[in-house]
Amino acid sequence: MSYTKNILITGGAGFIGSHVIRLFVNKYPNYRIINFDKLTYAGNLKNLKDIEEKSNYVFFKGDICSTKDLKNVFTTYSITDVIHLAAESHVDRSIEGPMEFVMTNVVGTVNLLQTAKENWIEEGHVFYHVSTDEVFGSLGSEGLFSETTSYDPRSPYSASKASSDHFVRAYFHTYGLPVKISNCSNNYGSHHFPEKLIPLIINNIFNNKPLPIYGKGDNIRDWLWVEDHALAIDTIFHNGKLGESYNVGGLNEWTNIDLVKYLCKILDKKLNRSEGTNEKLITFVKDRAGHDARYAIDASKLANDLGWKPSVKFEEGLEKTVDWYLANMDWVSEITSGEYQDYYTKMYR
Ligand code: NAD
Ligand code: DAU
Repeated sequence: MSYTKNILITGGAGFIGSHVIRLFVNKYPNYRIINFDKLTYAGNLKNLKDIEEKSNYVFFKGDICSTKDLKNVFTTYSITDVIHLAAESHVDRSIEGPMEFVMTNVVGTVNLLQTAKENWIEEGHVFYHVSTDEVFGSLGSEGLFSETTSYDPRSPYSASKASSDHFVRAYFHTYGLPVKISNCSNNYGSHHFPEKLIPLIINNIFNNKPLPIYGKGDNIRDWLWVEDHALAIDTIFHNGKLGESYNVGGLNEWTNIDLVKYLCKILDKKLNRSEGTNEKLITFVKDRAGHDARYAIDASKLANDLGWKPSVKFEEGLEKTVDWYLANMDWVSEITSGEYQDYYTKMYR
């Protein structure tokens, strides 16, 4: 079969990457999707069990920091386009050890840009870089991040992502590499690694463990259903303008404490516990260093120019998420049995 595109998706075994791969493999049988992933602690091929046999899907184990791995995958599969999601993604881990974030998020991204530049001579390619709203810093009680908000990253994670965004733009302006960027708010849904707030809280409630809330729990995040993010990526990849960036968000702001209390209520019912049982597990712990107060996204450019908007209501998505975790506790147990235990003890002792 000859494919119309050979799309390299980096980080496809992770949380968001696996949803993007599933969408593209099923929706575009005429594209060959090459999942390029190092399989760090956050990468799990079980996230893709349902599509691994599809003829237009290939897995290639590789590291974006290795020029050799990248050259190899570009020549083996004649890569025409890139959707770049591979990253170290957890803010708390970046506070404990920033270098890994510099290596993967900055050096790895530049390696990938350079490989694309060297391999793409003709026109018609797309290098799509998936980034975060955290590059814009922290909001007060008013206002939203727009595409023109100045960059002001505060954590080693967001500083590394901001740096990678700058390199992507530099390759557009300097070398004419055909790039697109999106900056998205907090995602939630299935296959989310249980170091992040929502899956960690679900897992701890299930196991009757304390629910750690940093500081007073009044920090605000804007939550988006991960499959809506995948649809936004599909839209921008196909219809977004080269050299431009698009903000993606859910218009769905929650304080951490309200969100955790809401999860407690859902799980009181699902686990047949009496009302208020799970809330007793809430424990206020030491705040995250440099904890950003509020993120909120103005996604009107994406809505007005490309017609994307979130499709799933938070209450509905959160219930689906809880149901997925309850039905897949073996997935959680497997990934929380090894290195995770050391990480958890170090973070939450
Ligand atoms: P994740 O941590 O779940 O997955 C990251 C994936 O990248 C894993 O499969 C891992 O094995 C792979 N990877 C890590 N280092 C690699 C390397 N050197 N070479 C090849 N593969 C490597 O991350 P996620 O939450 O799915 O986030 C994906 C992307 O989306 C990241 O770039 C992140 O910054 C961005 N993002 C995430 C969110 C969110 O809410 N999770 C929101 C906005 C943007
Ligand atoms: O905004 C997009 C970003 O969202 C992505 O770029 C990141 O990759 C992703 O990890 C996420 O970052 P956050 O730091 O916002 O997500 P996290 O789930 O780690 O934390 C959400 C909020 O919950 C934050 O205010 C910190 C708080 N928190 C988190 C944990 C893990 C707690 O109160 N207790 C916890 O145990």
